[in-house]
Amino acid sequence: MQTYGFGIIGCGRISKNHMESIKAVPGAKLVAASDIVEEKLAKTVEKYECKGYSDYHELLANPEVQIVNICTESGLHARIAIEAMKAGKHVIVEKPMAMSLVEADQMIATAQTMGVKLGVVHQNRFNNAIVKVRSALEKGKFGKLTHASAVVRWNRNDEYYSQAPWRGTWAQDGGCLMNQSIHNIDLLQWMMGPVESLFAYTATNMRKIEGEDLGAVVLKFKNGALGMIEATTTIYPKNLEETLSVFGTDGTACIGGIAVNKLESWRFAGDDEHAMLADQDKEPPNVYGFGHADIIQDFMEALTEGREPAVCGKEGRKALEIILAVYHSVKYKKEITFPLKEEFTIGLGL
Ligand SMILES: NC(=O)c1ccc[n+]([C@@H]2O[C@H](COP(=O)([O-])OP(=O)(O)OC[C@H]3O[C@@H](n4cnc5c(N)ncnc54)[C@H](O)[C@@H]3O)[C@@H](O)[C@H]2O)c1
Repeated sequence: MQTYGFGIIGCGRISKNHMESIKAVPGAKLVAASDIVEEKLAKTVEKYECKGYSDYHELLANPEVQIVNICTESGLHARIAIEAMKAGKHVIVEKPMAMSLVEADQMIATAQTMGVKLGVVHQNRFNNAIVKVRSALEKGKFGKLTHASAVVRWNRNDEYYSQAPWRGTWAQDGGCLMNQSIHNIDLLQWMMGPVESLFAYTATNMRKIEGEDLGAVVLKFKNGALGMIEATTTIYPKNLEETLSVFGTDGTACIGGIAVNKLESWRFAGDDEHAMLADQDKEPPNVYGFGHADIIQDFMEALTEGREPAVCGKEGRKALEIILAVYHSVKYKKEITFPLKEEFTIGLGL
């Protein structure tokens, strides 16, 4: 079996999912970690028995590291990813892959020039319920798609935002659409296809952040279907649901749970809904789900097979484009058409 050495940059909240997944996936080995906070780095080094660097450039210089997982605040993703790829490393970057399409395009171009792979962490694409719906879609079981909705009703309290000063800022994060809802927006576009146009309202009602804590978006897809996004981090008193619903002339599927993990409706002619609903995964321990291991496994297989990873840079760019369109729709109070005009390809914090 081919083995791969991993290096993680950023040892914060989400890094644990990467580290535990690397431990769990055969052939993956955590070689090194980097964080600018000494205590976080020391804990990681001790727990995972890997090398530790306070300067990530030293991690990039380690020849045992073949794949770099970027788990820093979002505003640093593009710069670090580009440096890592220029150092000859393959890169798995947390979502959002970048804060602007200009940066995302530079990342995609660097991967191509350097002959390395770039993957983006949209782990929910591997949820069993999502895989089933996507497979139904590919088999044409929905008939003609009519509409779909992506709902994220979560809670991130003031403590969450004050834990790390970058959260909720335009330069490093964005609001509940760019941070929390990007996964469901990725799934919405994956099921429904390219967007033709959208119109949005956002609000910052409860949290003291630059970005939005509530968003409402109406979309038109190129196939004529309509879409809706409802996104918030202000649901009282805790996370309620992340739900994706897809409707067609011949089929209905709703995937709910706390993180699009549970089939709630499965209605297709000839299919036994009860049997489908009985065959379910267990509820994940948190909204991050179980998919990080799948992302890592798929990335390694992509390297071995010489193909693109399932969520490559071009795939990761699609949800980013939708969210930037939302922000520009709010800013200019108008419908935004796709592909985005050049002036909308920059992030709001840049
Ligand atoms: N896929 C998911 O479901 C998911 C879930 C949560 C967060 N995320 C994403 O993961 C990223 C990190 O989020 P988090 O909540 O773990 O943040 P966090 O603040 O808990 O962790 C970020 C870490 O990066 C470190 N860091 C910052 N600059 C660095 C540098 N130059 N070199 C090395 N380390 C550096 C910080 O010290 C911190 O420990 C964000 O982009 C976020 O959007 C993804």
